[in-house]
Amino acid sequence: MGFKESMKSLTRKNILTAPFMKEFCATASNMYRLGWDERNGGNISLLLDNTELEEYLDLNHVERTIPTGFKADALIGKCFLITGTGKYFKNVEKDPENNLGVIRIAQDGETAELLWGYSDGGKFTSELPAHLMSHMARLSVDPDNRVVMHCHPTYTLAMNFVHELDEKKFTHTLWEMCTECIVVFPEGVGVLPWMLCGTNSIGEATAAKMKEFRLVVWGMHGIYGAGKTLDETFGLIETVEKAAQIYILTMGKPRINTIKDEELAQLAEFFKVNCRKDFLNL
Ligand code: 13P
Ligand code: ZN
Repeated sequence: MGFKESMKSLTRKNILTAPFMKEFCATASNMYRLGWDERNGGNISLLLDNTELEEYLDLNHVERTIPTGFKADALIGKCFLITGTGKYFKNVEKDPENNLGVIRIAQDGETAELLWGYSDGGKFTSELPAHLMSHMARLSVDPDNRVVMHCHPTYTLAMNFVHELDEKKFTHTLWEMCTECIVVFPEGVGVLPWMLCGTNSIGEATAAKMKEFRLVVWGMHGIYGAGKTLDETFGLIETVEKAAQIYILTMGKPRINTIKDEELAQLAEFFKVNCRKDFLNL
């Protein structure tokens, strides 16, 4: 070990104290508290800054390598903090080292190098394809994207069973339910039909939608969100879930009042957001 390296190892901090770790754990707890992540439901991945990560981990030390089963060349050398498969969101905050892992995409683009975590011998979420492929898709349209989040929010899921799974109609219904929806997700919500989860195919389909949307509904399964920060991504899903809750609470009852399409357009104009005009009926 050279002088510089030994200085780095002497000053290395405990990763459990890292702001990104604390925020990640708090986010998982909030998602659990809201009932979005029963049992092992849901997964989160956060793209880390390697320079910041080096304050906590020796990036030359790989605990073990795990094949991913797909190519992610655009992510070679990039590190992610990501939930483990089969792990309960309920437990993330009290035992991050077992429930989370820090992985780096190796030079071959298809191997994950475990730098920290999954301490019981576990591995990353079964939805790694959807996460990494979505990161690549979002980064190609927004270089500041850092987060991909998946969960099973109750009302969003309930809405899937009683509402057409059509992007325009689904988005329009959500926009109508809360005044601020169109401002929060002006590009709308992408919708996929029911598909087998945990596969490269659902990952590819999700990533294709992620070029256009930061929110993608997985029919009769849950939702994916993407954003620059954990808060932004959480807030996107939270807003969809709130709108879906209002939809479920009011469905089947006579609709006396509604937010009109002209009013939705007014909101988009006033708050200077570029909304999907073809999702409005003007
Ligand atoms: P993991 O436990 O593998 O993350 O899977 C949970 C899930 O929600 C699958 O879609
Ligand atoms: Zn799921």
